[in-house]
Amino acid sequence: MGTVDNLRRGLLLFLAASFSTPEAVAEIVFMYSPDHVKNFSIGHHFYRTMTLDEESHTLYVGSMNFIHRLNLFDISNTGLKFAEAEMKPTYLGANSQYLDDLCTHEPHKCENHIRVILKTASDKLYVCGTNSFSPKDWLYDVDLRTRDIYPPYGDGIAKCPFDPENTLTAVWVETGNPEDIASVYSGTMAHFRADPILYRPDLNIHGYRIYSYLRTLKADTKWLNEPWFVGSFDIDEHVYFFFREVALEHMNCGKTVFSRVARVCKNDKGGRNVLRENWTTYLKARLNCSIPGEFPFSFDEIRDVFQLPGDTSKFYAVFTTPSNGLMGSAICVFNEKDIESAFQGAFKEQASPTSTWLPVSNRLVPQPRPGQEHAPERM
Ligand SMILES: *[C@@H]1O[C@H](CO)[C@@H](O)[C@H](O)[C@H]1NC(C)=O
Ligand SMILES: *[C@@H]1O[C@H](CO)[C@@H](O)[C@H](O)[C@H]1NC(C)=O
Ligand SMILES: *[C@@H]1O[C@H](CO)[C@@H](O)[C@H](O)[C@H]1NC(C)=O
Repeated sequence: MGTVDNLRRGLLLFLAASFSTPEAVAEIVFMYSPDHVKNFSIGHHFYRTMTLDEESHTLYVGSMNFIHRLNLFDISNTGLKFAEAEMKPTYLGANSQYLDDLCTHEPHKCENHIRVILKTASDKLYVCGTNSFSPKDWLYDVDLRTRDIYPPYGDGIAKCPFDPENTLTAVWVETGNPEDIASVYSGTMAHFRADPILYRPDLNIHGYRIYSYLRTLKADTKWLNEPWFVGSFDIDEHVYFFFREVALEHMNCGKTVFSRVARVCKNDKGGRNVLRENWTTYLKARLNCSIPGEFPFSFDEIRDVFQLPGDTSKFYAVFTTPSNGLMGSAICVFNEKDIESAFQGAFKEQASPTSTWLPVSNRLVPQPRPGQEHAPERM
């Protein structure tokens, strides 16, 4: 940045020196000013999430205690009525001495950091905020004029984190859930800096619970091991989650981080006994982003992932090397089909807690094969 700025200043001085009339200088200055750059700011407010609604040419921005509704054509001059909604924390009771101290030292963390804004098919916005370490969620009208708590209680736990800096991904799933009840799916921390989770909350109709929430097994590092979530997608019958985590299968001195794609079926209704309220269709695979060769050079840490609008066949992901090694980054493209075939491929298992992870022979894979859609229930 510094270099570019200095260069431009040098150029302006040079031009100013070579034209004699002030008007000419003014014109040149205008030509070189970045007037196509529009900016929006209400100060240092931790802008943490953005949601584009192309249909209404609106950009929703979530910040500390606010949702902003910006005009895509010119975010500096929104001209929109109700361009923002103020969302101060609704709960300010002391949780603990620890939180009291934290709020004294880092008061911004005890505000309501908006982390999720998702548009639903019924033209509402699903919004979740940290609410001073007491996560809450709401449904807003798209124009931000009115809001309700998200039914039944506006309890945002496991849908957005307690700590504004914790990991999060969320996606709105309108169809394909049991009885087509729309829901958010999330990946975050379900407790204060603990309990990483991939989650779908209870499915309710008119405030009555029809299906219980589903989650990854609690405190089971085989499901999730210190994950950092980077993206989630609703594609056909599945929801995909992208994250990086400490690799359990890589036994080494010190920690190694690998990148993953995990998948659940949207029609998962949970299991019997031990898997009640836990996913029964959860599968995960390693993402390999590397330069082939005799000694492949790999970029192990996924940082972000996106799809092009209207094309669900490919995932574009940004990877880096670990920050303590040779620095490098890469963009790798994954075909959805290849991810599917990895999920159909061989499983790995660890025979005992100290043995290495090895492929499971097909013969030993339980039937029905784990991670399949639930067959329609027989009458
Ligand atoms: C952003 O725009 C406002 C006017 O809309 C201007 O006053 C301000 O200097 C701009 N800030 C930057 C960093 O460009
Ligand atoms: C989900 O799995 C965990 C770990 O096996 C188990 O302790 C828990 O009881 C299960 N949930 C329910 C509601 O059965
Ligand atoms: C990752 O891909 C590279 C290049 O295709 C390959 O050489 C390497 O063996 C793969 N690594 C794993 C762990 O599968």
